[in-house]
Amino acid sequence: MDAIISMDEGGQIVLYNRAAEATFGWPASKVLGQPLSMLLPPRFRSGHDAHVKQFAATGVTHRRKGEGVVLYGLRADGAEFPMEASISQIDTDEGKVFSVIVRDVTDRVKARQALARFATEASAIREQEKSRVARELHDELAQSLTALKMDASWLRDHVREDPDAAVDKVVGMLGMLDACVAATRRIAADLRPLVLDDLGLVPAIEWLAQSFTQRHGVPCALDLDESLALQEPYPTAAFRIVQESLANVAKHAQARRVDVRVACEAGHLVMHVRDDGVGFDPQAARKPDSLGLMGVRERAQLLQGSVQIDASPGAGTCVRVTIPLPRASAGGLTP
Ligand SMILES: Nc1ncnc2c1ncn2[C@@H]1O[C@H](COP(=O)(O)OP(=O)(O)OP(=O)(O)O)[C@@H](O)[C@H]1O
Ligand SMILES: [Mg+2]
Repeated sequence: MDAIISMDEGGQIVLYNRAAEATFGWPASKVLGQPLSMLLPPRFRSGHDAHVKQFAATGVTHRRKGEGVVLYGLRADGAEFPMEASISQIDTDEGKVFSVIVRDVTDRVKARQALARFATEASAIREQEKSRVARELHDELAQSLTALKMDASWLRDHVREDPDAAVDKVVGMLGMLDACVAATRRIAADLRPLVLDDLGLVPAIEWLAQSFTQRHGVPCALDLDESLALQEPYPTAAFRIVQESLANVAKHAQARRVDVRVACEAGHLVMHVRDDGVGFDPQAARKPDSLGLMGVRERAQLLQGSVQIDASPGAGTCVRVTIPLPRASAGGLTP
């Protein structure tokens, strides 16, 4: 699989294997007798010659290159590719022969870049979630608590002189306290729905659908596999995916109805959230601050699953997710 190229002391190629032909795109006939530097992008050529001279002078027989630094090769069609290379030298009767072993690491470099992109986006999602919680705490709780404190100060100063007004004030404060309790419950439920831990995925999704319909007036039909009994992290992933998909329906779709399906099929957790709203073009560039669907993809991919979005402008949206289950979960065994 590795390209092997040997050159003589003058830097001319004397051996060039099949893998080298495939990697660099030149047939051996075009390369033998040519300087090895023809396989490198021009900007690296002089550096390469100096390296080989220095390597020859050290007498070291073998050296790996490209660990940590990315080296580049040049293909016949002019394209560059990242590679890993090692070089060795032997003394022969006709002088030194250097052999270079080259491996095309394009796929590995691409995978690493994808991973880095993924990590950056995942951390952006976490930050966005934190700032949403911070905003809600600030808007919903901090402001009510400040008002309550002002009312309490008023009570301290006026309760004796005007008991009737004090009673009115306390009634107002009790109303505000009720609202604070409700807001705390809601914020906590958004952070981590207790119903998910207490009752499991199916009731948690029923609760999600109910509050979605209550808040937005859009009916939500459920097709849930009652016998689903999954172990973490699957219920949380499923819950968050349905939650974000419903949030998107509320925010963007202008739908008249939604249906949600969560089931286990052939060892896979399958779900969809489908609406009959305005739809969108999933291929269009996404806004940089749109992280919801990224989060859905991230959750599915972390569990080796996949996401498919069927949507087009005017034709509604369907987010489908398939996640393979480990055997115990797939069989529906309870934890
Ligand atoms: N059900 C839907 N109906 C119509 N458009 C949708 C739907 N779901 C997603 N979209 C479109 O896809 C875009 C990306 O969605 P995504 O959830 O990633 O981001 P967002 O909802 O805009 O922001 P965030 O989820 O980060 O708060 C949305 O801005 C919207 O244009
Ligand atoms: Mg969203």
